[in-house]
Amino acid sequence: MTTTAESTTELLGLFPPGSRVDPDGELVVGGCRLAGLAAEWGTPLYVIDEAAVRAHVRRVRRALGAAWPDSRMVFASKAFPVTAMYRLMAEEGIGVDVAGAGELAMALAGGVDPARIIVHGNAKTPAELRMALHARAGLIVIDNTDDIEALEELADGEQPVLLRVLPGVRPDTYDAVATGQAGSKFGLPLPAARAAIARLRRSRKLRLDGLHVHIGSQILSAEPFAHAVEAIAGLGEFRTYDLGGGLGVRYTYADCPPSPEDWIGALAGAARQVLPSGAELIIEPGRSLVAPFGVTVYRVVSVKGDDPRFVAVDGGMADNMEVALYGQRFEATVTSRVGGGSRVELVGRHCESGDRLVSGVALRDARPGDLVAVPVTGAYCVTMANNYNGALRPPVLFARDGQSRLVVRRETLADLMSRDVPPA
Ligand SMILES: Cc1ncc(COP(=O)(O)O)c(C=O)c1O
Repeated sequence: MTTTAESTTELLGLFPPGSRVDPDGELVVGGCRLAGLAAEWGTPLYVIDEAAVRAHVRRVRRALGAAWPDSRMVFASKAFPVTAMYRLMAEEGIGVDVAGAGELAMALAGGVDPARIIVHGNAKTPAELRMALHARAGLIVIDNTDDIEALEELADGEQPVLLRVLPGVRPDTYDAVATGQAGSKFGLPLPAARAAIARLRRSRKLRLDGLHVHIGSQILSAEPFAHAVEAIAGLGEFRTYDLGGGLGVRYTYADCPPSPEDWIGALAGAARQVLPSGAELIIEPGRSLVAPFGVTVYRVVSVKGDDPRFVAVDGGMADNMEVALYGQRFEATVTSRVGGGSRVELVGRHCESGDRLVSGVALRDARPGDLVAVPVTGAYCVTMANNYNGALRPPVLFARDGQSRLVVRRETLADLMSRDVPPA
């Protein structure tokens, strides 16, 4: 763990584009002063720069269209499963991928065209498959032969499907989010995929449109993506190839992910070499579409010790599981004193020693009552928020050009107990 630089400019580089420091020193995201948002909505608080997400989605769409005209992009909605985000993606004209009934329900509630929904899952229940069929989801991705049997039984008419293939590619990322290597629970390895393809081609109900691969998440180099395309090319010629998501983002000063253009260039370059030229390409990024545009705002509750110096805030592993689950490194700043400072242990309020938000982060003179912002929390943090120690899940604000709107309210104590069945 080392951080190399914490100047104001370098720190701002981890916040959504356009973030700035006001003349009085206060951090501004999406045109909104974080102190103002925290005063109005309390902390912890997730803030998403809506304009930045929209601009980024358009950039990635443009890059994809330029590299491979017969293509489309879907948002891997597990990265930010909130109705307002489904609506935003629908407004931007892209589809979504869903895994599970909850994500499908939110996608439909958010106004996503069912034809643009891709249904995933390595353990889809019959109820979920029925729901996907009933919704007329555009594509269902077959993960295993049980999916084939269940769909054969449940489908009334023709259902377009893709087959998820395990390409045997291990990208350099956290074990928990590497999904393309031999032994992964996702998809079928090449020999089993060949057999499933033969079976699907005989199916009277399931129309095999093509193949799907997704090798993992937070991948910081383009090569493994190209290797995955090469790995599935020998399985025959198909109309559609869904090449998954997985592009990593810059969480810390040291991270250097490929640009979306470079990522798409690597996919399209490999596709040009080994896939049919008339094929349709799909990409399904999640993290890279939203992570850099989200910020979590906390209030400092207590500061103690000198070596180490603990700065404890009013959130932690209940609103950001990425640290405890993978060891993801973040950066942070006091919102009214951006940049500089001395190294502290930024810790949460939950009853585990592993509840550290950022170890050894430079904060300038953090004191109880200060606000601390952690950037790059726009993916998988809302997703995995939980009620550890009875924590109330934070609200989500979309900030845009100086205006903010609440898209998820803070959980209440009544919400927390709403499913408990009182004793008879
Ligand atoms: C099938 C599938 N597609 C796409 C994604 C999105 O990955 P990322 O958020 O890393 O882009 C995931 C994430 O786990 C996934 O499982």
